[in-house]
Amino acid sequence: MENAFTLIDRLESVHSLSLEEYEALILAQSDETAAYAAEKADRVRKEIFGNKIYVRGLIEISNICRNNCLYCGIRRSNGNCDRYRLTFDEILECCRQGHGYGFRTFVLQSGEGALDCDEICGLVKEIKSRFSDCAVTLSLGEFSYEEYRRMKEAGADRYLLRHETADEAHYASLHPDMKFENRMRCLKDLKSLGYQTGCGFMVGSPGQTAAALAKDLKFIETFSPEMCGIGPFIPQKDTPLGNEKSGSCGQTLYLLSLLRLIKPNLLLPSTTALGTIDPLGREKGVKAGANVVMPNLSPVRVRKKYALYDGKICTGDESAQCVGCLERRMNSIGFEISSERGDYEEIKKE
Ligand code: 5AD
Ligand code: FES
Repeated sequence: MENAFTLIDRLESVHSLSLEEYEALILAQSDETAAYAAEKADRVRKEIFGNKIYVRGLIEISNICRNNCLYCGIRRSNGNCDRYRLTFDEILECCRQGHGYGFRTFVLQSGEGALDCDEICGLVKEIKSRFSDCAVTLSLGEFSYEEYRRMKEAGADRYLLRHETADEAHYASLHPDMKFENRMRCLKDLKSLGYQTGCGFMVGSPGQTAAALAKDLKFIETFSPEMCGIGPFIPQKDTPLGNEKSGSCGQTLYLLSLLRLIKPNLLLPSTTALGTIDPLGREKGVKAGANVVMPNLSPVRVRKKYALYDGKICTGDESAQCVGCLERRMNSIGFEISSERGDYEEIKKE
């Protein structure tokens, strides 16, 4: 097989490799290969997006969840999770504040089943009528085709549903009562309904192999989502995986770079989990190829309760103004926060 540098060159030019080649590339991670991939990813991203970083205001509307994902702090069996659900008025107030900061995308996220389809549709309609220049992204879990269709009709623009891992056996080992097949069905439905669709996976989750990560990369290549969220796995002490090791910052950065080369115009966030395992993680993520940040707009009083993993940043009082913090952080590495909606665009070329 070609060496890693040639594989990276080929990925940059044809945006595709075989499963075996992806796996070899993942195993070939070193300071040198990572720097080589990051330098190319940075160049590719700058050619398309310049020094612009899109912002999405994240509103964690409820931590109530019907699922029991082994890694997640808001899983239904976690009796130590103090459950909450924001009211419509509280959610609208978060949007109003975010709009004042210049945000033109709101991401509504919650555990699965916290809101039913009618409630979601009502909320989306209200946000879209009050903030007509904004995009609404939903991140509320699995629903039927018909429910996703109604949410789209209500005005939702985008949907985030991480696939978590593209390896079916690995998926089953992390999600006791969920079906990989249904996850994939949801993602296909979302795309066919015309949502800008985001998938994504955790890096370094227990049981993850290089072969599984290769499948993730192949899945992104073939499914071709508009967005992809990745971040390191971080243990949460009240979960069955609470004593496992975190994923690494370095591997997450390397994968961000490879994702940028697979899909140059992908909307790729530098995530809070990355900022949690490394104090400069989000800056490093952008330098490695990411082009989106998601400041937390949730009311400060609920932030600690949305504890997917331990040590999550942006949960203290000082974090009321994540937007200012992130803007300074992006400026410090030569990037500007954009207050456009930042819709996905098919390759922009002069
Ligand atoms: N560590 C890192 N990421 C996590 N998520 C859930 N639990 C954890 C954890 N312990 C991620 C999942 C989910 C997203 C909202 O947060 O990938 O899709
Ligand atoms: Fe939230 Fe810095 S981004 S406190």
